Amino acid sequence: MTALVVTGAGSGLGRSLALAYSKDFAEIILLGRSTEKLLETKQLLPDKQVFTYELDIRSHAEIERLTDTLFSRHPVTALINNAGVGHFGPITDMPADQIKEMLDTNVFGTILLTQAFLKHFKGKGKIVNIISTAGLRGKVNESAYCASKFALRGFTESLVKEYEGTGIVLSGAYMGGMDTPFWNESNHIKDKSRLRSPDVIAEKIYSLDDGRSEIIVE
Ligand SMILES: NC(=O)c1ccc[n+]([C@@H]2O[C@H](COP(=O)([O-])OP(=O)(O)OC[C@H]3O[C@@H](n4cnc5c(N)ncnc54)[C@H](OP(=O)(O)O)[C@@H]3O)[C@@H](O)[C@H]2O)c1
Repeated sequence: MTALVVTGAGSGLGRSLALAYSKDFAEIILLGRSTEKLLETKQLLPDKQVFTYELDIRSHAEIERLTDTLFSRHPVTALINNAGVGHFGPITDMPADQIKEMLDTNVFGTILLTQAFLKHFKGKGKIVNIISTAGLRGKVNESAYCASKFALRGFTESLVKEYEGTGIVLSGAYMGGMDTPFWNESNHIKDKSRLRSPDVIAEKIYSLDDGRSEIIVE
């Protein structure tokens, strides 16, 4: 028995990844801050055993509590760290709370959830960190977002080396723009309908995910 946990599974790429990876797992566990959104994803998986739990990955206490619950109730073998936020524009215009939200969510939250899962995995497990091409190179008006994704890349690459040769396999996924709610509050992308669908990107990530440490979908 195996169970996959996906963060940020109530929309966008997280929802698409839950669908794409569902064929490989007996149970799918959807995490996010809004149960309503998670239940919409669950409806798309009528033939699977799907469970939803609320989690704000900015809270260390919530992460520790929920991770204990998940490992006591489900045969958890894999985690996709997909939850993330983005704020864009010149750094001189960016309020500190937006910078903090990106670092707390994209970096701190992902690191703490990964740490909690690594403590629970019993010698075998899989973690995919959803990063971005913003973790590969700097971009205009994306400085603080890129900083958060570069941090996640360093974290992921280091763990890949640390866990090499063990039964725990980690990888980072790097993709370009997608048409998701991520851009709803932003003018950074003028016409998001020109971006690729998260379903297409999720299927591509799934098809390239053969244990390699970097999954690049440009
Ligand atoms: N869209 C793009 O062009 C693009 C490109 C490259 C990489 N990415 C990355 O892809 C990932 C998914 O983004 P997306 O495009 O699918 O955007 P999205 O639809 O906005 O999805 C992000 C998800 O993260 C969840 N989330 C945000 N803050 C959270 C928190 N504190 N705790 C728990 N969950 C939280 C949100 O759910 P709740 O609000 O319900 O919690 C949401 O479902 C992100 O890491 C993003 O950086 C996106």
